[in-house]
Parts: sequence; structure tokens; C-alpha cells
Amino acid sequence: MAIDDRYKIIEQTMKKLGYKRESLIETLHTAQKVFGYLNIQTLNFIAKKLKLPCSKVYGVASFYQYFKLKQFGKHTCIVCTGTTCYIKGSERLLKAIEYKFNIKSGETTKDNNLTLMTARCFGSCTLAPAIAFESFEGEILGNLDEETTINAIERIVNEDNNS
Ligand code: FES
Repeated sequence: MAIDDRYKIIEQTMKKLGYKRESLIETLHTAQKVFGYLNIQTLNFIAKKLKLPCSKVYGVASFYQYFKLKQFGKHTCIVCTGTTCYIKGSERLLKAIEYKFNIKSGETTKDNNLTLMTARCFGSCTLAPAIAFESFEGEILGNLDEETTINAIERIVNEDNNS
């Protein structure tokens, strides 16, 4: 497990663009690339860093069809499909999850417990192939195979259901 580096990647984009307000769209692109979609915490983070009202950031994100703000299931599992993870077998992990939970990327299980998403590079390539959970303190799980992936998802979903 590793600390979530995705916010650092978003911050790098803003830094590169001089934290200018005009960099909002490019920053949103980066955020969606690393998270798979834009959640409210990420939008607030960007608003704060670019010194923009949250309403402005949310307004821009919701205006463009490209950006995904969709309401997800209780847990969101994101499979990294970046180059390193791809080479190390992320496609196999994705297929195993799709088969086990009977959903495709972008879909949510019928019980609303799990949404499956993909993203390109969490910035933790040494952990490849890696997955992340939105509901799990933003931690990234890595060096996975099909079995450890399914076990991790079941553990996280069940832990939460039993608490
Ligand atoms: S390619 Fe997956 S974490 Fe970088």
C-alpha cells in the first residue's frame, strides 16, 4: 500500500501552469486522468489551489460532457491502465473484476456496492499493477494478481458492510 500520490500529480499540473485560473480545464483533465472521474473532494482541492470559487470549478466540470461527475456505488474500485500497469497485467485484473462482479468499466453492481473505473497512472508505478479505492482513504494497492485483487475488493466491501 502507498500513500495516494494522485493529488501530487494534479498539483504538478497546476504548478507547471503557474496556478493560473486559466489552467482550470487542463487541471480537470489531469484530475480525471488520475482518478477516473471528478469527485467533490478533488473539485474542492482544485478550487482551493487555483483560488477559484467551488461553484465555478463545479460549473466548468459539469458543463463539458467529457468530464465525469457521476454518482457511483458505495465503493469505487479504479484499475490503473497506464503503461506500466498495462505491461504488468492490469488488463487481467480488469477482466477478473468484470467477470467476478458482473460489471464493465464505468458500471455499478446492482446492489450499488461497487463501481468499476479505470484511470491512467496513479503516479505509483513501482506498485504496478495497481488499483485504488475511492472509499478507502485513497490508498493504492499494488503488485496484484487476479486472486489478490478479488480478495482485496471483497475484503473492503465486506468490512464496510459488517461495520
Ligand atoms: S502506470 Fe499504473 S501507477 Fe503508473
